[in-house]
Amino acid sequence: MSLSESNLFKPFEYGTLKLRNRVVMAPMTRTFSPDGVPNDLNVAYYQLRAKNEVGLIVTEGTCVGHKAANGYPNVPYIYGEEALAGWKKVVDAVHAEGGKIIPQIWHVGAIRKANTKAGPDETIPGYSPSGLVAKGKESGVAMSHDDVLETIEAFVKAAEDAQAIGFDGVEIHGAHGYLVDQFFWEETNQRDDEFGGDIAGRTKFAVDIVKGIRERCGKDFPIILRFSQWKQQNYAAKLAQTVDELKEFLTPLVDAGVDIFHCSTRRFWEPEFAGSALNLAGWTKKLSGQPSITVGSVGLNNSFIDEEKRDMVDESQVAKESLENLEKRLDNEEFDLVAVGRALIEDPEWVIKIRENRLDELKGYSKASLAKLV
Ligand SMILES: Cc1cc2nc3c(=O)[nH]c(=O)nc-3n(C[C@H](O)[C@H](O)[C@H](O)COP(=O)(O)O)c2cc1C
Repeated sequence: MSLSESNLFKPFEYGTLKLRNRVVMAPMTRTFSPDGVPNDLNVAYYQLRAKNEVGLIVTEGTCVGHKAANGYPNVPYIYGEEALAGWKKVVDAVHAEGGKIIPQIWHVGAIRKANTKAGPDETIPGYSPSGLVAKGKESGVAMSHDDVLETIEAFVKAAEDAQAIGFDGVEIHGAHGYLVDQFFWEETNQRDDEFGGDIAGRTKFAVDIVKGIRERCGKDFPIILRFSQWKQQNYAAKLAQTVDELKEFLTPLVDAGVDIFHCSTRRFWEPEFAGSALNLAGWTKKLSGQPSITVGSVGLNNSFIDEEKRDMVDESQVAKESLENLEKRLDNEEFDLVAVGRALIEDPEWVIKIRENRLDELKGYSKASLAKLV
């Protein structure tokens, strides 16, 4: 057997989401959208991956319509006529190639710093659950109750607009220490209203976003939630220390209407809890009963983050053993979908090479390839 004959190339169907294979392009911020507007380069970039058989594209993080959602220059927005018209061109181009595409909707919370060229108004500080970017580390503004409701509405509106321009669903960015994750994580959520407290309180922000999207976009509109144990503020952090805590975290989100969990790990082959080989996506599927997406160094030998330098890794080599490990886990139906990040930046033809078992032609990854989109 090889990966080319594995479940990776079986179609996937869940509700209205029908994919030609199980390869997902991972969301990757590229900062090539001046003024927050996706342009022809963005269209060509995504179209090329769809043409080369990626099953589902999750776009780079795209900012919802709240004044403090953005954290970086040249990130695309998902509000306003111009940005939505830009995204519509991307959607239509991907569909024309037989692909499916979902935007990752994003608010950076306390990661935003005023006066760092993150538009639309760079004087605005970060907004977060308790004005904390990490344990005891103050940054920006603690959100009032009204700020919280306004931000939930911004996420729901983003999903509604995404649906209106033809996106195939929506992914909520609830990972990596950004706003939604800042609500999940006790160290950054010290609120004493209904959006804080125990794990049920800390998931309420995401739960209300999901419920709002369900209500306004209908029961058939696919909702993916991306979450991570690790945070960019603390790579060793764990949202759930135990299997039981993971179940407690997932249950309200499932009840609210999450369809698919995107479980962000840096190395998919690492077991999540002692005593079992299952990774985070494996446990999440088992505990939630919902499909899950795995991610992290698929086909590569190291994580996308250099934890010592606290920056993006410079180089990664092709690792066939990572592909063999993936094949076994797919065989066991540990998870349903497989997200691939850097390998798809480096090599738009990655899926076809895997399908045709041309493993010697795979390319690895170099940070230099971030310098251009196409
Ligand atoms: C350049 C770059 C930008 C990224 N931007 C995002 C992002 O916007 N949203 C997100 O959830 N993850 C982001 N990630 C993480 C990826 O989605 C993915 O989880 C990670 O790269 C691991 O997959 P890989 O090892 O296949 O690259 C980014 C990663 C890279 C390399």
